[in-house]
Amino acid sequence: DVMHEVFDLADMEAKLAKKLGISNVYIVPGDSDFFPWVKKEMGKKGTLLLKNLLKGEKDVIAVTGGTTIASVAEMMETDSEMQDTLFVPARGGLGEQVENQANTICATMARKAMGQYRLLHVPDQLSKEAHDSLIQESSIRQILELIRSANIVIHGIGQAKTMAERRKTPENILNKLQDEQAVAEAFGYYFNHSGDIIHKVRTIGLQLEDLKHIPDVIAVAGGKSKAQAIYAYITNGPSQMLVTDEGAATEMLNNV
Ligand code: BG6
Repeated sequence: DVMHEVFDLADMEAKLAKKLGISNVYIVPGDSDFFPWVKKEMGKKGTLLLKNLLKGEKDVIAVTGGTTIASVAEMMETDSEMQDTLFVPARGGLGEQVENQANTICATMARKAMGQYRLLHVPDQLSKEAHDSLIQESSIRQILELIRSANIVIHGIGQAKTMAERRKTPENILNKLQDEQAVAEAFGYYFNHSGDIIHKVRTIGLQLEDLKHIPDVIAVAGGKSKAQAIYAYITNGPSQMLVTDEGAATEMLNNV
């Protein structure tokens, strides 16, 4: 029955938080690998957390790309308290299709919440030279400053192989990821099971070390298939809050 289910999930949340070593885990029922509505439920939970974390003035929320964060945007509702909230993309181009890009999701979230947004227009796969000259541009510097001032970050986590393939990563990098057993991906960084960085996509915006200075970092990721990736990233990464689903949670508790 329903009460039983709620109780079981609360119990799982506590166990998983302990296993992952973070303060807050939220689990929605179901497995998003099999049912699309489960991803929407994670999205809904993400929007509620965002609202609760607002300071009420000069809030800046940085968002990543991906279908999961896209569902956070989809579930966002108009809120008069979000009028002054500024949404920004966490990082520049990471090789995603338009609908999965941080810029697109950021604009959708702001539009739905009736908040503000700023975008970061940077091509994917920057050369070292292009990177170094772009960060000298004053318009880019301004937006980078805003991004680094974010007080909340909401981001997805992916499986290394899935993300590398989705981004049409060159063959030599794909081989490297496989040889060095990359399992997780977040913010354009690829990690092995111990959280060592195997590869990083060169772009501007938030770097992994910047996240340590951001008060609230929320990860949203679910599906049994992502259990290993979520575990590898969360146990070693800077996120303190995780929204996940029963599919990923059960697998993490029993088999990872
Ligand atoms: C990408 C992010 O856009 O989405 C990645 O840059 C993240 O860091 C990925 O791993 C997750 O995608 P999805 O579709 O599984 O939510």
